[in-house]
Amino acid sequence: MQYGKIDWNDIWKELMTTQQRLDKTGDKEGHWNKRENAERFWKRTQENSERTDSTLNELPLTSGSKVLDIGSGPGRLAIPIAKRVSHVTAVEPATGMMDILKENMEKQGIDNISCVSKRWEDVDVENDLDAPYDVIIASFSLGMPDINEAIQKMQQVSSKYVYLYWFAGTTPWEKHSIILWPALYGTNYVPGPKCDVLYNVLYNKGIYPEMHVFSMDYTNYFSCMDEAMDFYRDRYVIETQEQENLLRNYFRDVLVQENGQLVEKGISTRVRISWENK
Ligand SMILES: C[S@@+](CC[C@H](N)C(=O)[O-])C[C@H]1O[C@@H](n2cnc3c(N)ncnc32)[C@H](O)[C@@H]1O
Repeated sequence: MQYGKIDWNDIWKELMTTQQRLDKTGDKEGHWNKRENAERFWKRTQENSERTDSTLNELPLTSGSKVLDIGSGPGRLAIPIAKRVSHVTAVEPATGMMDILKENMEKQGIDNISCVSKRWEDVDVENDLDAPYDVIIASFSLGMPDINEAIQKMQQVSSKYVYLYWFAGTTPWEKHSIILWPALYGTNYVPGPKCDVLYNVLYNKGIYPEMHVFSMDYTNYFSCMDEAMDFYRDRYVIETQEQENLLRNYFRDVLVQENGQLVEKGISTRVRISWENK
């Protein structure tokens, strides 16, 4: 075995690009460009606010901090962080997510977030950012095909702390895809790269981060089966009646009744990967 010759960034690239190719929505930001998906995400995070509270408590924020939130989504972290620090730059490429972030800023009277509507890999360090940043966060947003380059860019604009949040093991939604893909499309589903690959990329760059594993509930609430099907039909891109029937039968078994709602319930294992640049 040629241990020293494993190119972990190549492994990340292959798994990430395969996953993005498999994404049936057809564009890179796919799911998150749609307003209804961004709204559902925002609602879910507001209902599960303990997780956000514990993240806020573990970040080394001070009133003078300048923070970079990469893949900020609708502002689950950027909004409460902005209330505690001097400035936040939020990088978010998906229009659905960015629209909700801007609405949230307006509703809450927040004027210390600069919004950059780009993918991290397309961000121009000189013109789009206000480096250096005391705290850099990328929370479940590492959809970059070249993670080595993405981290290099973070290091370039970091003056101290970097906090990445990512996944360990197969996520609940990947478990559905693994079962559904062969039946729907006649091909196998390939899950995206996880924290093992990321750790090795960092290690090979001489970064030895702290790793903290935790679990997080993954829940989706629907008022009825038709609403659930609108959501899943979009995620899986359904073109034939046969696929429609297959999907409906599958999720009829998966969803559970709870207080008059249909609920998709799952638990995912997540990981916080952090380091301090000296
Ligand atoms: C699951 S959401 C997480 C949002 C937020 N960070 C949070 O923890 O609540 C993932 C976000 O990452 C963004 N994202 C994915 N790939 C990205 C990239 N290459 N550059 C910047 N953001 C990206 C998506 O558009 C999406 O809004």
